[in-house]
Amino acid sequence: MVLLFLCPGVNPVGWSRELAALMPELELRIWPEVGDVTQIDAALVWQPPPGELQRLPGLRLIQCLGMGVDGLLADSTLPPVPVARMFDPGIVTQMAEYVCEAVLYHHRRLADYAALQRERRWQRLPWQDTVRRRVGILGLGEIGAHTARQVQRFGFAVAGWSRSPKVLEYVAGFYGDDTLPAFLQRTDILVCLLPLTPTTRDILGARELALLPAGACVINCARGEHLVEADLLAALDSGHLAGATLDVFRQEPLPPDHPFWTHPKIRVTPHVAGLTHPRTAAPLVVENLRRLQAGEPLLHRVDRVRGY
Ligand code: GLV
Repeated sequence: MVLLFLCPGVNPVGWSRELAALMPELELRIWPEVGDVTQIDAALVWQPPPGELQRLPGLRLIQCLGMGVDGLLADSTLPPVPVARMFDPGIVTQMAEYVCEAVLYHHRRLADYAALQRERRWQRLPWQDTVRRRVGILGLGEIGAHTARQVQRFGFAVAGWSRSPKVLEYVAGFYGDDTLPAFLQRTDILVCLLPLTPTTRDILGARELALLPAGACVINCARGEHLVEADLLAALDSGHLAGATLDVFRQEPLPPDHPFWTHPKIRVTPHVAGLTHPRTAAPLVVENLRRLQAGEPLLHRVDRVRGY
């Protein structure tokens, strides 16, 4: 079995080590040193240069390094080979960690306290009871479901919205487009963890943000394209929304002159909420290679029409 590591900019050292430990017989080639292209069975990819996968005539599996496959599926040169997305339990815990911190940050008004500290002002701001603070999680896949659980453990009133019905005992469930307005109306802290598909692109625009209660906050750690950036700025500047924590952007890296960098109500992080780590992610890659060899169904195979 020959696997091509086709992830420009990603350090292959940890991957070589973890894959060799789990599958010693695997031959790993690191792009751009592809060797004889006819020998390559599978590719582990992240943002592959368009056209590169087309050069591999024997390719039988495209394993995405990330949990989101939107970028890969948007590539019109992608060959008609089965695509599997990443399932990394490490990303799931990292994302929950990021969201819990952001929820607590907004809930406990830490931005306001930081501003008061800069002015050397000792002032207590009104506190809202945790059980009355309504957190809403958009997307109840592996990441959303686990994150909802962790947020709920602090005592917040947690609801989740997803396109298809998902029953989670610790989350008030809203399913389908018709329920989105009611979900937004009951949400003080909104967390976006959706996959990016044609139906979720721009899902958070002026109309949706207006449905959030006054003083609500937005946390986006899914994809920049979920959020209409100008509409978020308008909702913050009008005073309708109180703050936002953003890890993802329509253009990454976020351009130096982008208003988000300096906006007093926005916290920016550089797409770090959940990063694939070879120690926790290599087992899935190896399992899918084993399944490929044995002719068994792949794990986390992507439905190209659905988009995830
Ligand atoms: C990161 O954004 C990923 O899709 O894993």
